[in-house]
Amino acid sequence: MKKRILTGDRPTGRLHLGHYVGSLKNRVKLQDEYECFFIIADLHTLTTQPEKTAELKENIRQLVLDYLSVGIDPEKATIYVQSQIPEVAELAVIFSNLISVPRLQRVPTLKDVMRDAHIEIPSMGLLGYPVLQAADILMVKANLVPVGRDQASHIEVTREIAREFNRIYDEVFPIPEALIPKDIGTLPGTDGKAKMSKSAGNVINLSDDSATVKKKVMGMYTDPKRIHGDEPGDVEGNPVFIYLDAFVPELRDQSLELRVKEYKQRYQKGTVGDVQVKEFLFEVLEEFLQPIRQRRTSFEKQPELVDQILREGTTKARAEAQKTLTEVKKVMKIDYP
Ligand code: TRP
Repeated sequence: MKKRILTGDRPTGRLHLGHYVGSLKNRVKLQDEYECFFIIADLHTLTTQPEKTAELKENIRQLVLDYLSVGIDPEKATIYVQSQIPEVAELAVIFSNLISVPRLQRVPTLKDVMRDAHIEIPSMGLLGYPVLQAADILMVKANLVPVGRDQASHIEVTREIAREFNRIYDEVFPIPEALIPKDIGTLPGTDGKAKMSKSAGNVINLSDDSATVKKKVMGMYTDPKRIHGDEPGDVEGNPVFIYLDAFVPELRDQSLELRVKEYKQRYQKGTVGDVQVKEFLFEVLEEFLQPIRQRRTSFEKQPELVDQILREGTTKARAEAQKTLTEVKKVMKIDYP
């Protein structure tokens, strides 16, 4: 039997090129080899923004469009909405008894989120974030969880909960493993900061139009030590070249590969200016984004189809959840007639 994968995102806004490099590209590949579930974790957004639920519907729609536009295929993978599966919450209540409060207080993302979201006292929901995530993962008995490095601690909590459940009751859950990308999985921001992120305002979204992409690329940070185009510059660590290395191979075009090589040599010698290299990068990104935009537009024109994809995915995921919960209650002997 195919191994099972579960991963997903909170619906907080548009996905960008960093998401593509760090996770989406991988998911498109994984959907051929594994049984994949992609969760849209709307309940998890409540942990930091309980007052922003009115935005969720549109954010969920955009997230599904992002998925479909990069080639996640609903025929292969199951895309579903967390809040439409009440069994997740029920499982999370059970799991919350299998892990201690101090253990959750030590999860490193808690401090990070509190700092970034200016939260002084965590709610029970925020403290329990990894417990809810454990319910997502174990609900479908996932074997593998592809996530960024920042999520590793949550998978560790999931493993502890699964082991504790299996120890007390019965061997119900597989112990899932995190699938964490190597460092090439992180794309720098257009401002040269280590990570592309919405809050830093340094992103190129998958749904940006040509004019927006052009403006962002032409404003990109390059080698800060280089003032004129006739001075030798650094290619290493230069975001423009990092992007070229990330996206040119996607296009499978030998002549573009050669041009990258040539631009790198000329940049190091000081015989090409930043503007020219950026114009080339813009060309490359446009070619990369064109089919993505086309697929997005086609799905945007069929909102009923997008609804149907979510409905069918949610039905399928819910059946799994019900099966697991029935088994859970049985081994716990709380399966009263
Ligand atoms: N916490 C994840 C994030 O912020 C999103 C998420 C929710 C998730 N449930 C999950 C990821 C289950 C993997 C598995 O990125």
